[in-house]
Amino acid sequence: MTFVVTDNCIKCKYTDCVEVCPVDCFYEGPNFLVIHPDECIDCALCEPECPANAIFSEDEVPAGQENFIELNAELADIWPNITEKKDALPDAEEWDGKPGKIADLER
Ligand code: SF4
Ligand code: F3S
Repeated sequence: MTFVVTDNCIKCKYTDCVEVCPVDCFYEGPNFLVIHPDECIDCALCEPECPANAIFSEDEVPAGQENFIELNAELADIWPNITEKKDALPDAEEWDGKPGKIADLER
């Protein structure tokens, strides 16, 4: 089991999640974060920390966002590790809650 970062992280990237992860298994792209499924220990600490409510247990990913399970695995192998909180993206508040941001994912 792993936790998964989903659509609402895109263009927000608040990064509160990385502060609490005991195994440092978050990986960072230009406008999105992902969790490495082989490193996540399923502790659930990050889920309530995300201001955008973008983190879910693998078996509770919202309908229509199941593709993010594979996407987290794919990008975690490519992107660099992130272990410290940084500023959210400049327009994070504006984008928080907008649907379908996958179209804006930068790799
Ligand atoms: Fe890290 Fe725990 Fe979140 Fe997994 S569930 S990403 S181990 S904080
Ligand atoms: Fe993204 Fe939420 Fe973390 S917006 S960077 S999953 S705190």
